[in-house]
Amino acid sequence: PADEIAQNPPSPLSSAFAAVLDSVLEHARPEASGAVATYIPELAVQDPEQLGIALASVRGTVHEAGDSAAEFTIQSVSKPFVFALALEQHGLAEVMRHVGLEPSGEPFNAISLDEQTGRPLNPMINAGAIVSSSLIRGDSAEEKFQVIGAGLSAFAGRSLDVDEAVFESEVATGDRNRALAYLARSAGTLASTSDVATTAYFRQCAVNVNARDLAIMAATLAGGGVNPVTRERVVREDVARWTTAVMTSCGMYDASGEWLVRVGLPAKSGVGGGIAALQPEQFGIGTFSPRLDARGNSVRGISMLESLSERHGLHML
Ligand code: DON
Repeated sequence: PADEIAQNPPSPLSSAFAAVLDSVLEHARPEASGAVATYIPELAVQDPEQLGIALASVRGTVHEAGDSAAEFTIQSVSKPFVFALALEQHGLAEVMRHVGLEPSGEPFNAISLDEQTGRPLNPMINAGAIVSSSLIRGDSAEEKFQVIGAGLSAFAGRSLDVDEAVFESEVATGDRNRALAYLARSAGTLASTSDVATTAYFRQCAVNVNARDLAIMAATLAGGGVNPVTRERVVREDVARWTTAVMTSCGMYDASGEWLVRVGLPAKSGVGGGIAALQPEQFGIGTFSPRLDARGNSVRGISMLESLSERHGLHML
């Protein structure tokens, strides 16, 4: 069947695609490079060998392989979704007064504020993501997180919870993020105090998901803001498009340009080992493998998405 698939790739929308996911997963399994994140100590306790993938079509079909139900913390994969929630509340012009839309070409934790405007360069790096969280409705971190947690759950189509140990670990070690928040605050771009913004952001990063959730969340963006499984409209169509555009240019940090050439799908990675990718109007993909490369992107997640794209023609360009 593997040869048959190679010669005659099934559409991601057909049931035969489950075999394709098995095949790209087994192809990636032997890759031994990379290491689990340790700068958030609680992430270091993850089993580095876990490996899962899921694909959800905009019609609501879901295919899964490997550890697609294993939970991990969403981390930076939350950033596009919270950016979308901020856009939904405030519109593009107001959000852009606080955060830019340009690729930074820098690592995710860079001290990256535009010299002229004081804005973080984009909402996919930590500085910009903390600004997105500050823009979410609510005066306290608890109120903001209620909106964020409900929004992420609506994208996933199920009620997501928080890994309290990872949250505490981020609070205990998050001084660089606090520094980014203070800088944004002093430049006038943070919409709350730095403590409120970072506490909401740390909680958002500690939300538990699995690869299937990420596939459905990405498919919700691919479907113009409508969750393909629950059929709930989560964000407006223009918000889904703007968010997808920023994932395309900035989602893989300083690897975004090469990613667009090699994989050609808008995507976002997280240091928990997750990646969410999508093809507009077609499908979302979630991958999970905790070992990361030097840029903080999952090694075997990249490998699976590269081979899916190369061998099965998923590149959108
Ligand atoms: O703020 C942090 O550093 C983490 N909570 C999230 C960083 C992250 O996931 C970067 N992605 N690859």
